[in-house]
Amino acid sequence: MSGSTPMRSGKERAAELSEAEIAVHWREEGYFQPSSRFIGQANLSDPSVRERFSEAHFPECFREYADLLTWDHYWQTTLDSSKPPFYNWFVGGRLNVCYNCVDRHLPKHKNKAALIFVGEPEEDAPQSITYQELYVRVNEVAALLQEFAGLKTGDRVTIHMPMVPELPITMLACARLGVVHSVVFGGFSGESCGRRIADSGSQVLITTDGYYRSGKLLDHKANADLAVKTAAEEGQKVEKVLIWRRFPNGRSATSTPMVEGRDYVINDLLTKYRGRRVAPVSQPAEAPLFLMYTSGTTGRPKGCQHSSGGYLAYVAGTSKFVQDIHPEDVYWCLADIGWITGHSYIVYGPLALGATSVIYEGVPTFPDPGRPWRIAERLDVNIFHTSPTSIRMLRKVGPEEPAKYHYHFKHMTTVGEPIEPEAWKWYYHSVGKDEAVIVDTWWQTETGGFLCSTLPALDRMKPGSAGPGVPGIYPVILDENGQEVPPGSNKAGNICIRNPWPGLMQTIWRDPDRFVKQYFSRYNKDPKSKDWHDWPYFAGDGALLAPDGYYRILGRIDDVINVAGHRLGTKEIESACLTVPEVAEAAVVPVVDELRGRLPEVYVSLKPGVTASPSAIQEKVVHAIEVEIGKIARPRSVQIVSDMPKTRSGKIMRRVLAAISNTMDVGDVTTLANPDVVEQIRTAVQGKEKKAARSGPEDIKAFGQEH
Ligand code: PRX
Repeated sequence: MSGSTPMRSGKERAAELSEAEIAVHWREEGYFQPSSRFIGQANLSDPSVRERFSEAHFPECFREYADLLTWDHYWQTTLDSSKPPFYNWFVGGRLNVCYNCVDRHLPKHKNKAALIFVGEPEEDAPQSITYQELYVRVNEVAALLQEFAGLKTGDRVTIHMPMVPELPITMLACARLGVVHSVVFGGFSGESCGRRIADSGSQVLITTDGYYRSGKLLDHKANADLAVKTAAEEGQKVEKVLIWRRFPNGRSATSTPMVEGRDYVINDLLTKYRGRRVAPVSQPAEAPLFLMYTSGTTGRPKGCQHSSGGYLAYVAGTSKFVQDIHPEDVYWCLADIGWITGHSYIVYGPLALGATSVIYEGVPTFPDPGRPWRIAERLDVNIFHTSPTSIRMLRKVGPEEPAKYHYHFKHMTTVGEPIEPEAWKWYYHSVGKDEAVIVDTWWQTETGGFLCSTLPALDRMKPGSAGPGVPGIYPVILDENGQEVPPGSNKAGNICIRNPWPGLMQTIWRDPDRFVKQYFSRYNKDPKSKDWHDWPYFAGDGALLAPDGYYRILGRIDDVINVAGHRLGTKEIESACLTVPEVAEAAVVPVVDELRGRLPEVYVSLKPGVTASPSAIQEKVVHAIEVEIGKIARPRSVQIVSDMPKTRSGKIMRRVLAAISNTMDVGDVTTLANPDVVEQIRTAVQGKEKKAARSGPEDIKAFGQEH
């Protein structure tokens, strides 16, 4: 997948990739049935949905989703696919996303909680923000953004904030004005935020002074200074930094000084905008709503551009059908709003449906592993949504905790990584108390919303399998030569989506060529084709299709590592390592971790004449990664090697390093330029005694292979 690799014939690729194609032996799990109680209340219990959303009714089937929204002007054309793979949905339609998530709920739900904020300190009572209060606050912020910050429709603004209610308030204020927000996960470093500011061309950065994480008050404002500096180095001047206060009553959570003429406290400015109203800007359906940066195969994150009408229709529809959200539900998704899950399924989807969405600031195990269940009990949460990593962690530290609390979930979601059947079953029996239905939703930043999942009232659950395509999504597994891998063949291949759908990103911000190349070139046979059937969406995941039509996702087949459900690019981590002056070469590989799924492991070789001690170098490398990316990218270890295993043309064989890190068979290394180094590295990492090689997971086997 490396951009610099010349194209090779399908045959050559197939020979190299044969590993990814071999039979994958895993035990099929038995089915679990949704309860009749769940089915009785479900939004979607009519099996005709499969027929309604079948290919025969594509694309008109998606009217059903668009009709969940309030349009200022109804659209004429459901899908314009005349320029594939660039698509426009609901063409001619106009709407405002903020109006749809806030204003239109006022007549019926004015006094109902839209958001409930639970701060990490347990002594602080949860704060409910009603739809009326949300309306007032969003309007005031919109007025401030317009008048004080000078933001206009189409401008980009970067938001680097943690899980506080001011984050969705700010996003909705942007949406009200048609300002394109780019939210950067709060745990990313100032530097990575700065690079995203520069790429998006934001002149305004919105941030927070501090927040709680694991019992500590973190100074977040310090990141803003680094972000502005990095953006400037990349040619983007940030005119204004707007800072939310974590605490009311003027108490500051930062000791970082304010920069005169650049930094402003939003809470102070807002006093001037009290009671102000701003008319929602009526936007074309295809107007961009937000950018979300994600890691790919090159060093630079790419800005996935999502639309207003198509995106909102898709997340509203899937929130209703797959999440089973009703206006009376209390819904809690533990993801961070700084990732796509939070955008689609904490903010836009639930609020479009007029639900109550819970926002929790801190880590789930603080101050103890009973915390999530106490929150669920107190708020009477009935829909719960989290990742396999959180499930594994909560199970490890508090397997008996859920039974101690009186909450009842009707529905639970798992997302972000493959879940092993053992963890799934604990989730089902212990967290869900054998009452809740589970959906394992597979999708990506690029796809806006769910791609594969069971329909909670209609399909049986099978631990470890996401399920079939959700309504209107037609997946297919293709082999290296573009041939369809049939169900039940027990062969892994590349999962693709054959058709466009309203939630699909519109393009990569400022890089349409990369959009085409990254997601569509792989299986497109005729680049001139104007027929969407010729442009399957290439997701970058390996998958298997069982005879029952359920997809089991095996993980990434490219240079991306999925750490605790967070997507990190190995190339980005390598670039960070190379900022250490002593480092000559760096290679980053994924290694299996019991709790967090995968962790990065770093290999570096040093420049000649370096005198620093190995531990000093290791520290510098870890520090560089934390500064350039953030703590989430901390490697399991940093291995210093005398040389990297290389091909005769000088290419680092990351595949070999991944095999060593995971105690897998390194395969044939005799053709390398320096085969001896492999054994040296193996003994340095694994010890002298040769360990029996395991057969590793598919994503690790595929890692470092050229596709
Ligand atoms: O490898 C897949 C994995 O997460 C990747 C997408 O990451 P991101 O864009 O950050 O979005 C995460 C939340 C949607 C996918 O390419 N992934 C996501 N959901 C699942 C999954 N792997 C297995 N099962 C899932 N349910």
